[in-house]
Amino acid sequence: MNIGLKQKIIIPFMVITALNLLVGYGICSVRHTSTKTYTIIFVIFAVVIAMGLALYVWKAFLTPIKLLKKGFAKVGAGDLQFRLPAGRTDEFGNLQEGFNQMAAAIESRDKELLEARIDLENLAFKIQNYSEDLEREVAERTSELHKAYEDMKENDRLKSEFIANMSHELRTPLNSIIGFSKVILKGIDGPINERQQQDLTLIHKSGQHLLNLIAHILDFSKLEAGSFYLQKAPVDLEEVAHEAVMSVHPFVKDKPVSVQMEVASMLPKVKADRMRILQVMINLLGNAAKFTERGSIKLDITNWTPNHSAKPKEELVAFDSGVLITVSDTGIGIPEESRDIVFEKFQQVDGSSTRAYGGTGLGLAITRELVVLHGGHIWFDSAPGKGATFYVLLPVNDN
Ligand SMILES: Nc1ncnc2c1ncn2[C@@H]1O[C@H](COP(=O)(O)OP(=O)(O)O)[C@@H](O)[C@H]1O
Ligand SMILES: [Mg+2]
Repeated sequence: MNIGLKQKIIIPFMVITALNLLVGYGICSVRHTSTKTYTIIFVIFAVVIAMGLALYVWKAFLTPIKLLKKGFAKVGAGDLQFRLPAGRTDEFGNLQEGFNQMAAAIESRDKELLEARIDLENLAFKIQNYSEDLEREVAERTSELHKAYEDMKENDRLKSEFIANMSHELRTPLNSIIGFSKVILKGIDGPINERQQQDLTLIHKSGQHLLNLIAHILDFSKLEAGSFYLQKAPVDLEEVAHEAVMSVHPFVKDKPVSVQMEVASMLPKVKADRMRILQVMINLLGNAAKFTERGSIKLDITNWTPNHSAKPKEELVAFDSGVLITVSDTGIGIPEESRDIVFEKFQQVDGSSTRAYGGTGLGLAITRELVVLHGGHIWFDSAPGKGATFYVLLPVNDN
């Protein structure tokens, strides 16, 4: 018979109540002493039965509750395989079955978690291996790169050394060619006819050109190798400007181009390498003369402060007091798309073999390096057909 919890509680109470009613009725209706004795025995008997019933109810509740408590403690402590005995058909049976289902669900979840953890650990292990491989690879590549860099540096040094030696070897006979052609041109070795003079002039000019080229290449290789040193001293820029302008006159003498110069009065002396500043001015004036067919080329030198309208385009000037050297011309100008290449070595706006102007494309690269070595800035404004203006800004308080 399937007795529910409700019945288990109600039945004992109904029994006790019925017995009490019976006892009460008995005591009230019986007068004989023996009968009373029976009655008392009966009451005691009733009480014992009631107690027994209470004990039965107590046990019926306590046993499954204790079991559940034990189950929770076991599962809580990690014994996920623990199950309560099956077979009870009352509410406690349902509860125990619910508990068992819950424990089974936790067990299977735990298994899944364990598997996920193992997967995760495997993954972490793989990542660890992979990162170790990667580190090894990076270290190998870095050391290869380092070696390549060292090789490259050594090659660079050898190249610079070779260029320095070669240019020395080339310059000695070249100076002889230039010197002796000049001697013959001057008529020191006797009179020469007009054709001989023309040919000798060409030899002399070509020799000068070649010497210039060698000087450029040597300068550049020294600059690249970092073995270029400035000999700084206070420089009178006006005097240097005169010399630069004088040297550029021959290049425009056959063209309708005027050469102008303007130097501000009270110009401070700049601590610089005179030879190199002269080289900078000659390079810029030489370009202006080369790329200008008519009009003018002009060298301007003024004082510079941060509120001057001329400023480098992409660099910040770290000094407050400077001298600005401006070389402007009315020549062919530089197109916007070539703006970035003119300061690159061996780069020319017209790089074709049929170009109209000679040159190596080293002049501005060297000029920029020289200006930077002086702590200065160089930039330009230009438009095709509108001429070009190159700016060189040198610091004044350079100690
Ligand atoms: N004043 C200028 N006007 C027009 N183009 C110029 C001027 N100065 C330089 N350039 C351009 O910049 C290029 C690089 O100049 P540079 O380095 O002096 O080389 P090079 O004079 O040997 O060609 C020139 O070939 C020319 O295309
Ligand atoms: Mg040049």
